[in-house]
Amino acid sequence: MLQSNPLSSVSRESSVVPVKSIRTLFAKTSSEYNLLTHSNFESWFEQKLFDYQQVLRNPVVEITNPRKLTSFERTALITAIAKANMVIYRCRTPEQVNQESILSLAAQLGLTRLDRDTTTNHQGLAALADQRIVTAKPSIPFSSAALNWHTDGYYYPTDQAIRAFLLHCERRADSGGCNLLIDHTVIYGLLRRRDPSLVTALTHPNAMTIPAYRSEQGTVIRAACAGPVFFATKDGALAMRYTSRQRHIQWKKSEPVQTALNQLREVLAQASDLVLEHTLEAGEGIICHNILHARSAFTDVTPHSRLLYRARFRDPIRGSVAALPTSLLPTA
Ligand SMILES: [Fe+2]
Repeated sequence: MLQSNPLSSVSRESSVVPVKSIRTLFAKTSSEYNLLTHSNFESWFEQKLFDYQQVLRNPVVEITNPRKLTSFERTALITAIAKANMVIYRCRTPEQVNQESILSLAAQLGLTRLDRDTTTNHQGLAALADQRIVTAKPSIPFSSAALNWHTDGYYYPTDQAIRAFLLHCERRADSGGCNLLIDHTVIYGLLRRRDPSLVTALTHPNAMTIPAYRSEQGTVIRAACAGPVFFATKDGALAMRYTSRQRHIQWKKSEPVQTALNQLREVLAQASDLVLEHTLEAGEGIICHNILHARSAFTDVTPHSRLLYRARFRDPIRGSVAALPTSLLPTA
């Protein structure tokens, strides 16, 4: 069972083994995966939780000019992302921020390879707002409804994964619209702490299949896509494909995957102490490595009040990839 407080065993900073030292403790090849001892994993995960909690306590970095970060601002952003795979920025002069400056901020962190689709404008940004006034049945991200836990682009194959995204708040809702965020690496660790076979089951290449997406006329807009939940990227990071939606998704009908899925849902439901809840104000934004996220429902008194810009990227955030020891990464 999950400990009632997952952070209860987190070491004090002075007693934590530095990450570089930890890496030398681990096996170097995936074939040695099974040789890992429980204490190897616990050392890594305790350090991870300690670093992560530090960011949760102080997740905001203030920015004077998003078009030209100071070295201090950039270092603060990168440091937080390396520890928690996410950071919140706060522009001191929100009224001076436009779509170009949002993309300029991203570019200074190595984020330039945008994912474009039918929801993005000519600059590559999607405007997230309640579209019900102009569209009868908007998809959930473009409505005022709550969004349950997911990673972005879970319907893509692993070689086209969304590695990072940015959400920038132009206007907040009159009420609601809180963002919920949790590092997927933390969820991986909590699951693995329960039983390593759970994360192994979720690395199955057919663990999660998204059926083909068709137009009303039956034309295939996006082909069916099967893939793992957890997978390792080429640069040694852990990535995750996941959605908690119940419809238009097929989970592998095997006992290991079904058990792991139930445990994953339970871990996520019990990890509220490790969730960052933040309602973005105008001029604030989230930059992250496509972590697990959700959104509460919101109410706009003024139509189209809440407006967030979203940019998705194919590359990770430069200088902030916290590669896991090889032996802790999923083996495909
Ligand atoms: Fe999302």
